[in-house]
Order: sequence, then C-alpha cells, then structure tokens
Amino acid sequence: MKIGIHDIAAATGSLVLDLSELAEHTGTDIAKFQRGLGQFEMSISTEDDDIVTMAARATKQIIDRHGTDGIRTVMFATETGVDQSKSAGVFLHGLLGLPANTRVVELKEACYSATAALQFAAGIVARKPKEKVLVIASDTARYELGSSGEPTQGCGAIAMLISANPAVLEIEPAAGLWTSDVMDFWRPNDRSTALVDGHYSMQVYLESVEGAWHDFRAAGGAEFADIDYFCYHQPFTKMAVKAHRKLTEVAQAANPDASVASLEETMIYNRRIGNSYTASVFYALLSLLDNAEDVTGKRVALFSYGSGAVAELFTGIVPAGYQAHLRRDENRRMLDARTTIGYGEYRDRHIKFDQTGAYDTAVESDGPYRFAGVVDNKRQYVTVAS
Ligand code: COA
Repeated sequence: MKIGIHDIAAATGSLVLDLSELAEHTGTDIAKFQRGLGQFEMSISTEDDDIVTMAARATKQIIDRHGTDGIRTVMFATETGVDQSKSAGVFLHGLLGLPANTRVVELKEACYSATAALQFAAGIVARKPKEKVLVIASDTARYELGSSGEPTQGCGAIAMLISANPAVLEIEPAAGLWTSDVMDFWRPNDRSTALVDGHYSMQVYLESVEGAWHDFRAAGGAEFADIDYFCYHQPFTKMAVKAHRKLTEVAQAANPDASVASLEETMIYNRRIGNSYTASVFYALLSLLDNAEDVTGKRVALFSYGSGAVAELFTGIVPAGYQAHLRRDENRRMLDARTTIGYGEYRDRHIKFDQTGAYDTAVESDGPYRFAGVVDNKRQYVTVAS
C-alpha cells in the first residue's frame, strides 16, 4: 500500500519586508543577504495573526477540498508554540470545527518535528488505511534586532493530509536518522526570540547531512544517482546549497554542479518567505512541485534538520496526475499580495510582539481567522464572518 502526502497547502504572514530595507538601515551590503544568504524578503504577520491562525488558513484549504471524513488525528509541529501546556492543534481544532472524536497533539524539536509527525502519521495510516492524518507545521522565526540571525526571520505554515493512495507524494519506507545533543540554537522558556550559535549550527547541520545519508543508505534507501531532486530545510536558502555540496562529496556524485543546480526550484518560495522553521523543508517541496515543469515519477529526497539536533532524510515518488492537486496560482498570489512595510514599521512590530498580560490586537487581517488578544490569561481566537 502506498502512503504519503495526499494534499499540501500553505499560508504565510500578510506583510513583507524587502531585505534591501534591512540592509540600508543596518549598514549592510545587500549582496550579503541576497548572494551570501540567498534571502530577498521576509514574511511578517499582522498583530492578529499567529502560528494558529496561519495554520488554520493552510488547513482550511485542505478541509474545503476533502472534508473531514476519516481525519481522526491532528499533529501540530512547531517550535514557537503559543502555550506551554495546551497544544496549538487544539486551538486549530476549535477554529476549524473539527470532529470531537479526534486526537490532537503538538510536537517539538526545533525545525525538525513536522518530519517526525509525517512518519508517525504514515504509521497510523499503515495500521488503519481508511484513516487520514492532518500534519501541520507552523512557525514564526524571530531573532533579536541587530543580531546576525535577523535577516533570516520569516513565518509560514504548511498543512498536509496524509493518507493511503496519496495524490502528491508517495513516501518510501527507508529513512536516514541522526541525533546529537548539542547547543547550536535554542530558546529558553522565558524568551520570545531564539538564541543561536549561527556558524556552529551550520557546522552541525552539515555533520547531520553526512550522518543521515549513511544511515539512509544502510536502511536500504536509494542510491544518490537514483534521486532526482533534493529538498532541504532552508533556514536561509544558501544553506541548502552548502548542504547539497556536502552531500555530493559524501555520496561521490558524478556531476556535483548539475546536481546543485537542480536545487533552484526548491528555493523560490523560501527566498521570499524567510525561515518558517518546521514548515521550511515542506515549503521547499511545495516550491519544487509548483515551479518545476513536470516531476511525474521523479524521486524526491527531503532532508529535515532541527537544531539541538535531530535530522532525517527520506524520499518519495511523485505520482502521475499530481499537478491537478496543486494550488500554484493561489500560492503565488499569496506571496505577491503581501503588503510591503518599511523598516520603521517592521521594528515597531518586532518590539510589540512581546506583549504580555491582557491585551486586544488591532483588527488587521481580513480573515477567515483572527487572534484577538488575551483575556484572563486565555488566548482569544475568532472566526471572521465572510
Ligand atoms: N557580498 C556577498 N556575500 C557576502 C558579503 C557581501 N558583501 N558579505 C558576506 N557575504 C557572505 C559570506 O561570505 C557568507 O557566505 P559563505 O558562508 O558562503 O562564506 C554569507 O554571506 C554570510 O556571511 P557571514 O559573515 O557568515 O554572516 P553572519 O555571521 O552575519 O550570519 C548566519 C550568518 C547564518 C550565522 C546567521 O544569519 C544566523 O545566525 N542565522 C540563524 C541560524 C541559522 O540559520 N543556522 C543555520 C542552521 S539551522
């Protein structure tokens, strides 16, 4: 039985900062961001939009198309959760009016956990082939103003429906795993911005590529030459290029330059969104599916990395007819329709993000879901009547 991604949908913040603004105001050569990091824009959320409402916008597209029949599990992957105890998935369950007979859970391991969710979901479907699982990755990547991570911020959500006989990607059983207890990136409970040892995190990422690849091969995974495309976690898109160069060495690829060039279509969305942590590797996949001419029958590898650190490499085959299940125009429109803001507004919003206590948020988003603020220590989510 084939199991995998039956549908995939995206959402991101409705505002955008062009990195040339950030370069100008921080006295940085824009070439560092564009050529050095491979980043051009960053998505930013309005005050009344967060990881839950972004996730709800992405998931709604799947529910509108497929309904909720057979969905008995929701896995919400995030490293920027809104509550230490309650799953962001339960807020989402409420907003979308999902059936009461559903198991809902939040998973965390930096940028990696949506990949674990995908594998857990495949296990559920293998056991109960009529069931479907919603896997959602949603994050807001934030670093301190003036820090080296600042140009790599962003936000985004990806929702996926995992089922038998999938229309978009048939996941193959072999997976390469790698874990090491390191402090390359972390966010203590009392902080809203991440702490990062940036260059060390790049080094650990590259070590994990090698480790996960060897395990993938030992687990019976495909040879390098039999993999057509590679989608990497992209904290900044240049990281995918560095990672793939490393893999071409480790796997002794016959034509490394051509292989690196084949990453191009996987980086189109993340260059404009910035880092979306758990969603990033799936944005790379979506970017490939939406922007490559025709990848029918091709084998795609996904490399997922979460600092701390856990990595996994796995592959899938794109089935015939996948194009009919995409939302190419909607996804491009979503990026083009974002409102451009200047450096001053970006800075104000960054500072205001840290509100505590009771507060209302300004009505900024045009729906269908809003984060309305905090009352009695309870986050308020509302559905906006259309
Ligand atoms: N023109 C062109 N390229 C330039 C440049 C210029 N004027 N100035 C710098 N660059 C290049 C550098 O050579 C470097 O490229 P290289 O790595 O291929 O040599 C790149 O731009 C970044 O410059 P660097 O000095 O390393 O940047 P930095 O120290 O300010 O920060 C990160 C880079 C990635 C460490 C930082 O953005 C960060 O901490 N990000 C968050 C953590 C992260 O994403 N980790 C990745 C693994 S999860």
